[in-house]
Amino acid sequence: MLDSLKSWKTRVLDQQAKLLGFLLLLKSGRGYRGGREAPRADAGRRYKVIVWGTGFVGKQIIRQLRDHPRFELVGVIVHAADKDGQDVGELCGLPPMGLRASRDARAVLAREADAVAYFGPTAEHLAENLANMTLAMRMGKHVVSTAMTPLVYPAACPTAVAGTLQEVCLATGKACFTTGIDPGFANDLVPMTLMGVCGRVERVRVQEILDYASYAGDYAPMGLGRPMEHRAMLENPEVLIYGWGHTVPMMADALGAELEKIDTVWEKWATPVEIRYPHGVIPAGCCAAIRFEIRGWVKGEPRIVLEHCNRVTQAAAPDWPRGKMYPHDVYRVIIEGEPCIEQEMALRDRATGDPNRAGCLATGMRAVHAIPAVCAAKPGLLSPLDLPLLPGFGNLRAR
Ligand SMILES: NC(=O)c1ccc[n+]([C@@H]2O[C@H](COP(=O)([O-])OP(=O)(O)OC[C@H]3O[C@@H](n4cnc5c(N)ncnc54)[C@H](OP(=O)(O)O)[C@@H]3O)[C@@H](O)[C@H]2O)c1
Repeated sequence: MLDSLKSWKTRVLDQQAKLLGFLLLLKSGRGYRGGREAPRADAGRRYKVIVWGTGFVGKQIIRQLRDHPRFELVGVIVHAADKDGQDVGELCGLPPMGLRASRDARAVLAREADAVAYFGPTAEHLAENLANMTLAMRMGKHVVSTAMTPLVYPAACPTAVAGTLQEVCLATGKACFTTGIDPGFANDLVPMTLMGVCGRVERVRVQEILDYASYAGDYAPMGLGRPMEHRAMLENPEVLIYGWGHTVPMMADALGAELEKIDTVWEKWATPVEIRYPHGVIPAGCCAAIRFEIRGWVKGEPRIVLEHCNRVTQAAAPDWPRGKMYPHDVYRVIIEGEPCIEQEMALRDRATGDPNRAGCLATGMRAVHAIPAVCAAKPGLLSPLDLPLLPGFGNLRAR
């Protein structure tokens, strides 16, 4: 009896000693000094940003930059004559901000700033985009951009585009990063990160399944809304690969795979009835959905596939791919390998639930959050393979 009481007391004392030891351990502070705990070079710094382009993406980014602890909006360049001189806040449907939009790019670029966040027109407007990005760098600014999608992977971009801009980067000592959501984050960093937990990947497919009905930007190059006999610019395989497909060689290079060829698949769907949507009307018999694939062939098979299924309204192309975990409007990655992985991401605007507003906000913010890393990079054109993790410093805060 005495013995069992003793052992009971010993056990309690032993547990208390362990608890005391653990509490002392917790009191010893957090982290450690020295070793690899190098302070972040840019921690706490606020970056001055000029926004160029106030379309669907640019306006949303201005809203975010208004009160962002890490970025300060110091100028806004516009193209449209009626926006010239307008208060930037009012231009974006906000209270006045005391900053005026200007068509005088040189005057705005003369201001002190770290970077230009460039949200100009689609890659179709090559000459304007190159001229604008060049001017920004010549006037001493790094550039983050969503406008020239072929530049998401400069190594795959034609020399006339990437070579020219690379020379400007080297001559000016500036860096330039082009990104977005797709092409961009959803179809490059997300699948590449997921493949990083596999032991073997046999095939990877990345899908954008998105109803464009609420997108106010330009999707004429896709032929949506046009008669079925109209051959849209992106229906041409070379143009599609140029505009959207450079992520394929990026992924192949990241995986160390040798690409044999890249080809494309293009399908379109005619609406049997008229479709009304926020930006127009699609007459019966015209194209209301497109589905394309850009396929990177490795060892005799398409193993890296980028797929888009873009509708105008949910009613279009009822038998084409849909979200699985979410009913509609998703980015999905399907990896066949060890392990097999399926990942679905749904972006939604906080106030309206609109996936296009959310996707375009993410497009612009992916570029903006790259600014500190782009400022710290060596001069030149950059891709996601050159950049560190961009976790959204300063984002976690109350309203
Ligand atoms: N990779 C992706 O995931 C992704 C997603 C969405 C968009 N994007 C790209 O990002 C860019 C912005 O998209 P968005 O939806 O905002 O397009 P948007 O609504 O069509 O706006 C483009 C803006 O470009 C400006 N602009 C037009 N012509 C110009 C010129 N010659 N020089 C300078 N600026 C000119 C205009 O600015 P002002 O109105 O200020 O005059 C216009 O509002 C586009 O290139 C688009 O293709 C990429």
